Amino acid sequence: MQNEMTEKNNSELPNHVGIIMDGNGRWAENLGLMRSAGHLAGVKTLKQIIKTAVNINLKTLTVYAFSTENWKRPHTEVDFLMHLFSEYLEKEKRELNEKNVKIHFIGRINELPQSLISQAHDAEEMMKKNTGLKFNVATNYGGQDEIVRATKKIAEKILNGELKIDEIDAKIFESQLDTVGDPPIDLLIRTGGDLRISNFMLWQSAYSEFWFTETNFPEFTPEEFLKALKDFSKRDRRFGNVKTSQTKG
Ligand code: IPE
Ligand code: IPE
Ligand code: MG
Repeated sequence: MQNEMTEKNNSELPNHVGIIMDGNGRWAENLGLMRSAGHLAGVKTLKQIIKTAVNINLKTLTVYAFSTENWKRPHTEVDFLMHLFSEYLEKEKRELNEKNVKIHFIGRINELPQSLISQAHDAEEMMKKNTGLKFNVATNYGGQDEIVRATKKIAEKILNGELKIDEIDAKIFESQLDTVGDPPIDLLIRTGGDLRISNFMLWQSAYSEFWFTETNFPEFTPEEFLKALKDFSKRDRRFGNVKTSQTKG
């Protein structure tokens, strides 16, 4: 199925896929396990999804790993997640590098535990020249926060005379976002059954296609991922315009 996707539908592949990896906790609770077991299982799923993304030559993948609101969770869960991110990087960075993946952390990275900041930085350094899948990990990320930070950077440029108010447009604004240089999100996938975006990629998903599934992230498979991509390839995206066949009238 992967080959079929690569060969036949490459031109209809989204340039940028976002995934809200949700439902880890509920998956574990349904099985009578601790929520942490769900997060561990979620990491396994993520590895499979990355493998698939690399195989089909996807350009950009952004995953939601931890939101600016997730600090509200019990200290033990937050702590577990921070350790899990560290462990993931330690174990996976070599393989990601071998796969020509270019990792990039987005969000308020400087507020993460110091050891994780260094590891994230090291991984980015290691992969900075890679040309394959651009893999953004949204960690301590919030779409509203990203927009506020971008606004502050722009205000600073105005104050120091680098920019005039009249020069601000969508392009300038985008250049101050964490995803600078990446295409907008074409396809936004959310697992876990909830129909919301929970502060993910607010600017970048202006014209995204959405794909929701009841499947909790630990049970999300490469097959279902490919199903979402296939569904995307059939969507009629108009971007505010009318269909090409209707433009004459
Ligand atoms: C998503 O799964 C992972 C993170 C937010 C870190 P959840 O932990 O939100 O799982 P549910 O939604 O409670 O099942
Ligand atoms: C979104 O999931 C954040 C991540 C997947 C990292 P949440 O579980 O935090 O979202 P809500 O609370 O259900 O909106
Ligand atoms: Mg959740």
